Parts: sequence; C-alpha cells; structure tokens
Amino acid sequence: MDHFLYRDGAMFAEDVAVSEIAATVGTPFYVYSTATLLRHFRAFDEALEGMDHLVCYAMKANSNQAVLRTLAQAGAGMDVVSQGEYLRARAAGVPGDRIVFSGVGKTAEEIRVALQGGIRQFNVESEPEMEVLNAVALALGKVAPITIRVNPDVDAKTHAKIATGKSENKFGIPISRASEVYAMAAAMDGLEVVGIDVHIGSQLTDLAPFELAYQKVAELTEQLRSEGHTIKRLDLGGGLGIPYETSNEAPPLPAEYGAMVQKTLGHLGCEIEIEPGRLIAGNAGLMVSKVIYVKSGEDRDFLILDGAMNDLIRPAMYEAHHDIVPVKEAEPGVEQQPYDIVGPVCESGDTFAKQRNMAPMAPDDLVAFRSAGAYGAVMASEYNSRALIPEVLVHGDQFAVIRRRPTFDEMINRDSIPEWLETHPA
Ligand code: LLP
Repeated sequence: MDHFLYRDGAMFAEDVAVSEIAATVGTPFYVYSTATLLRHFRAFDEALEGMDHLVCYAMKANSNQAVLRTLAQAGAGMDVVSQGEYLRARAAGVPGDRIVFSGVGKTAEEIRVALQGGIRQFNVESEPEMEVLNAVALALGKVAPITIRVNPDVDAKTHAKIATGKSENKFGIPISRASEVYAMAAAMDGLEVVGIDVHIGSQLTDLAPFELAYQKVAELTEQLRSEGHTIKRLDLGGGLGIPYETSNEAPPLPAEYGAMVQKTLGHLGCEIEIEPGRLIAGNAGLMVSKVIYVKSGEDRDFLILDGAMNDLIRPAMYEAHHDIVPVKEAEPGVEQQPYDIVGPVCESGDTFAKQRNMAPMAPDDLVAFRSAGAYGAVMASEYNSRALIPEVLVHGDQFAVIRRRPTFDEMINRDSIPEWLETHPA
C-alpha cells in the first residue's frame, strides 16, 4: 500500500495535492511519501520480530539525504556500496555500527575511509579483496569485521540484468569454495569473521529462490561452525519485489518473507540482517511529468512528455513497466485510447510505454509514474543536457524540496575550458 490516492478526482501525495507541488516546483519532479517509506521499513522490521535483527536499507535505491534521515530516525541501518554512499549515510546521521559495506570492487581507499569512520561489517566478495582489506586494517592497527558473500548458484528468476546469485555472475565466492576461503580469512590478523552474506538478485516475486539460497546458508553455517568459525550474523541481502503493475498478482509481503526466514534460519541463533532497497522506496515515490504534445503518428498517437529516459531509465534499460496515471482522475465512463508514451530525448529507446490505454490526454496535463521511488532519481543523468529533476518529500500536509533543480549555468559551469583553447583558438 502507498499514500498516493485520488481525492475528489485529484491525485494526492499523503495530504498534499500533486498538482500543487507541480505548480510550485515545475515538472518533471520526483515526490516521495514519508508515511509510505516508514510503513515499508516497519513492515520488514516487524517481520523479523523475535529474532535479533537489523534492517539495512540498500541506499542505492534512493540515497537522498532526507530519505536516509527519515529511515535512520526510524532505526534503519544502511547497506552501502561506495565511499560516496558511506559518506552520505554518515552525513544523514547513520552511525558506523549500523552500516554494512557491500560491492565487488571496494578500493583500498574506500576500505580505509570506512574502517577509520566506523563500520558494522564488510561483505567481502573475493580473495583479492580480502587481502587488501587485511592489509589496510593492519596498517591502521584495526581489525575489520567481515562476512563473506557466498554465491549459492540459485536462479532468482528475475530480469537477467538484476540477477546476481548464479555461478556465472560476478558476485560473491562460489559456495562450494566457502570452507577454503573462510579458512584463509581466519588466518588473517586484520580480519574478524562474524558471519555469512548472500544476495541473489532484485525484484524477486517468489519466495522459493530465497528459501533455496537460505537453506544453503543454513547448511553452510553449521559446516563453518564445525570447522571452528564464529558465525553469529547472517546478512540475507535484499531483493523482495514490488507490484509494478497494479493489475498483476502482488509479490509476497515482508511478513511472509520474514516467516520464511524464521523457519529456514531461526534455529541457528544468528543475528539477521536484510538489505531491502526497492521494497522500501519503490512504491513510496512518483515521477510526475507534463504532456508537452499529443502527436498523431501514422498508426498511433504519441504522448510526448517533458520527462525522459534520462530522468527514469528503467523502462529503457530493463523494459520495466511503470503504471502511468493521470494526476487529474479520468471521468468515470470515459473511453480510453492507446498511446505510445515517450520523452523528448533523441532516440527511440526514450519510450516509457507502448500502446498504453489512458483516458484522452491534452497538452499541460500531468501524469504520474508509479513505483518510481527506487532506482529512479539515483539512476538519472543529464543526457541531452537535461538538468537533473528535483526531488520533493511529503510529510502529512507538508512538503519540501529535498533536492532542487540545478540552473543551466550550474550545469554548464561544471565544465572547464583548457588553457590552449583560450590562447590558441582553433
Ligand atoms: N543488497 C545488494 C548487495 C544489492 O546488490 C542490492 C541491489 C540490494 C541489496 C537491494 O536490492 P533490492 O531490495 O532493491 O531489490 N537498478 C535496478 C536494480 C539493481 C539492484 C542492484 N542491487 C532496477 O532499477 O531494477
């Protein structure tokens, strides 16, 4: 459930009319609901009740400072994958001991910054990374807490670009080699093994692949313990999917996921960490855009919006579906018509939806892309020299711009002209 509902024919974000935000900040923009963010975080938190646990929000999904602060105040930890994310989390007030550091390519510098600043654990993904981590820790006179990410070779049955748990993927170490790699880690003085990490993919709509992976983790826990390792913490990754199409069957809820975790791993007495991103932020956000033109093609009508693939890349990149709805609700009984919904960017891939049925639309009408709170703003670019679009956070009847639209001057002035072009004009 989210907090974007029609009231008397107008879409609201909590208690604020979306059209009022549009009038204030201009289009396109992202808008997030505090109540939805918190609801989703709490759903996970409650799903793991009875087990020692920490929900580490995967901030790659949406890393705006205001979003992070909202979740951190509710007790969330963070899953970070870069120095930038680590520093963002700290700037938002997240203590180091609530931050886990994931990612296949952590550099020595990133490791140093996190070790010095304070970190709950590194999720190590390879032997070479383990060696660098050990060396950096020893040089700083510290001991780095680690889990090792195992690749359980499980088919997550999701889009190939966001599946991570098959042996052909670059992530983790093969579970079959875990014993050997844990022994290597135990022999390194700069490392302290605290547990196991696993993450098999994103937008999973079925619990079965998770359960299969977690069963393998349960077996591995027993095996590693018998080999003398301390396994007190299990990081189970993120990946639970969200309903992008309201007409489709909904994926399992956090409560069902939590019950499965308790059933599969509860007997081990481990502290559980999970790293949900999409499920917390996805349906907590809309991208709102305006119709510029309605263009009649030879065999179809195009809705040309002021938002484009650079603002929301998921449809172009993953053929992802986002529900697109009018901000002013269609009158009941109005006949719908099919549109190709596109942006102004100069390539055909700048298509949000093909032959999507909507009530007839006109220039200046507003549309809202649902489920755009995760992997929306964070994946935006300035392609075609389009400025990054603003982000707005709603809380009850209040709203605030949490990232403003940059000016064109700011955009242009980030470039600099080398001396030689000034002194010897071509
Ligand atoms: N933990 C790790 C180690 C991850 O790699 C990811 C996502 C997550 C947690 C969070 O997964 P979530 O709960 O959000 O599914 N840009 C793509 C999604 C890429 C996900 C990458 N890793 C998209 O727009 O669908």
